[in-house]
Amino acid sequence: MAVTAKPKLDAHRLRADFPVFEQLFHGKPLSYLDSASSAQKPRQVLDTMHEFYATSYANVHRGVYGLAERSTERFEAARETVRALVNAPSSREVIFTRSATEALNLVAYAWGLDNLGPGDLVVVTELEHHSNFVPWQYVAKRTGAAFRHIPIDDAGELQLDALDGLAAEGRVKVVANNLVSNSLGTINPVEELAAWAHEQGAIMVVDAAQAAPHRALDVQALGCDFLALSSHKLCGPTGAGALWGRRDLLEQMSPFNLGGEMIRSVALDRTSWNELPYKFEAGTPAIGEAVGFGAAIDYVTGIGLEAIEEHEHMLVAHALERLAEIPGLRAFGPPPERRAGIVSFDIEGIHPHDVAQVLDWEGVAVRAGHHCTQPLMTRLGVAATTRASFYLYTVPEEIDRLVEGLHRVKKVLG
Ligand code: ALA
Repeated sequence: MAVTAKPKLDAHRLRADFPVFEQLFHGKPLSYLDSASSAQKPRQVLDTMHEFYATSYANVHRGVYGLAERSTERFEAARETVRALVNAPSSREVIFTRSATEALNLVAYAWGLDNLGPGDLVVVTELEHHSNFVPWQYVAKRTGAAFRHIPIDDAGELQLDALDGLAAEGRVKVVANNLVSNSLGTINPVEELAAWAHEQGAIMVVDAAQAAPHRALDVQALGCDFLALSSHKLCGPTGAGALWGRRDLLEQMSPFNLGGEMIRSVALDRTSWNELPYKFEAGTPAIGEAVGFGAAIDYVTGIGLEAIEEHEHMLVAHALERLAEIPGLRAFGPPPERRAGIVSFDIEGIHPHDVAQVLDWEGVAVRAGHHCTQPLMTRLGVAATTRASFYLYTVPEEIDRLVEGLHRVKKVLG
């Protein structure tokens, strides 16, 4: 039998695609270890957006002239690229939004307000990003539904043995979970949760903002009903995201934003809605940003999501091994093979903001804070963590510089 070698990624070579690495900070090269917050942009994306705005830009779906048709074609091609990324059955099920947050708000408002009520249960998780937590908490309160969470264990893994207890409490109508935790990197068992959600008669809403940059996605294999994506974490521009939703659910749902583009006809006494996906795309969309999002997906899939995932596992293993050298450092989350390229940690007696400040003097950029996951911070018993996060352009030497920087932190502040 032929043995196929796993695809490998050459991060040193890929760095040349990213102009940001050509400058110095505090006289030192940049160790950018904050990709979970937002990924850097390669020339391929920047050039595509420049070329689009320079040669092909006009408003979409409105003009009958050549330039508008060209712009519409590029916008719709980007939609098809998003469809292919998540293996959705149809591009009509792909709605462009401003962000993953807006995509999740769309579901919470447009599905939640009409389908939730007293006696119903909305179930999120203890490690959810606020964007898939707060909208559900808010809509549950507005509709009288109960709001519950699946707890995590000390390793940052969801405790699925809590599910039976939740089901006994009422009608579970929504299960909302991120596929990859932005704070801990944990890869969550979404397939299992989706199967359980459907047994309860609930919908499964997946926040894939942190998963899409790091692993291949397939909404049909995941078995979910909605999935939210963002462009900026995947080397694309800010201001663009997408929602995939099951067509029958999207057809039944009321609109979210109202105005131009999302209507079929408007009269003084009534308005009817446009077909999918336009029913959910009120106003002029972020056209150039959608094109940039498409270019970013092409860039990332050209490298290969499997190769990216493999690279990140290698980096996390290296990081956890090296961080263990630092006295008083506590790293949170599961083992390397159970997470994407994210490591959150605490250093006893030193505030994460001070850690990040001293690291900045060394040219090392990390995020310090609650990472939009305050319930998780409460569970971990900290107000904040320092988080180092990696991507396809991260090289092990940057992690070594992080560790050297942490020795300096200990010297200065310990
Ligand atoms: N959600 C982003 C983060 O994890 C901003 O930092």
